[in-house]
Amino acid sequence: MGADIRSLMESTEAWITPELHTAFDNKISEDVTVKAAMYSLFAGGKRLRPMMMHLTSDMFKFDESIDNDVKYFAATLEMIHTYSLIHDDLPAMDNDELRRGKPTCHMVYGEGIATLAGDLLLNTAMERLFRICEKNSGYIYAASAMAGNAGIYGMIGGQSIDIASTDKEISIELLTELQEKKTGALIEAAVVTPYYIAKKLTREQSASDETAIALRKLANHIGLAFQIRDDILDVISDSETLGKSTGKDERDSKATFVTLLGLEGAEERLNLEVESIRNILKGFAQKGFDTSDYETLTDYLANREK
Ligand code: IPE
Ligand code: IPE
Ligand code: MG
Ligand code: MG
Ligand code: MG
Repeated sequence: MGADIRSLMESTEAWITPELHTAFDNKISEDVTVKAAMYSLFAGGKRLRPMMMHLTSDMFKFDESIDNDVKYFAATLEMIHTYSLIHDDLPAMDNDELRRGKPTCHMVYGEGIATLAGDLLLNTAMERLFRICEKNSGYIYAASAMAGNAGIYGMIGGQSIDIASTDKEISIELLTELQEKKTGALIEAAVVTPYYIAKKLTREQSASDETAIALRKLANHIGLAFQIRDDILDVISDSETLGKSTGKDERDSKATFVTLLGLEGAEERLNLEVESIRNILKGFAQKGFDTSDYETLTDYLANREK
């Protein structure tokens, strides 16, 4: 029997928090940009990407000896994710005032410092990736893939299409690409990185490794399910429950699964994604891997309120 989602969240929080506290040296902790970065890092994110990294490690029962490295990569990814949200909320992008139940970074620290705080989190993440590769050259591909997934073929690429598609009717294919990149790419990094680390895969090996391919497929459907539910919640939820403002996608003429397919159409597509996730998990279970916690996450993705 797997754990329920609440205890998975609690154990992830306990696992990742000390590592996130090591983000910056004490000697620089009074710097205002560091304070702004720490404000957003600890504003109450759900830590779903670190959770997924833990779930992948657990599913394959990877050796405890790599747990510290998985945690290090997980905190690094959470920094990249947090930077993406700080910038996403800026007036020049989505112009949001609420995030994680708190005023957005720029509302507290101003736009200049919030921009720098995002930059700092990204730069720190890159430095961390280089540093771990100095110790273990077997991690070079894992690190390079994580950086790549944050870039133009990943999150930034998705954000770029998101902005370019504002006020436009776009095809479902382009919308899918937008979502796969802006949200799916960092989720892919979460799902696959523990496997890349444990196996010390090279780029060539990763391209043909069957398990890596299946994990990337799993991540693709998780990413879509997650972002479709995000689009639905923007319409059906309220800012108090969600911790961020709602009704903005329609108001800002954003291309989302709901604005393109309607609420029912988006829900149907979400169900299809959830079915695909379950099928891939079945394949892993048939090979003897313990998928129970990933199944708990899947139930949550289908119905989450937050
Ligand atoms: C929000 O991600 C941005 C999207 C990709 C939709 P999360 O919902 O995981 O954000 P936090 O980290 O919990 O705030
Ligand atoms: C942003 O997507 C995803 C990122 C890459 C930051 P949204 O703009 O839909 O995220 P929310 O709704 O503001 O969290
Ligand atoms: Mg956005
Ligand atoms: Mg936004
Ligand atoms: Mg959204």
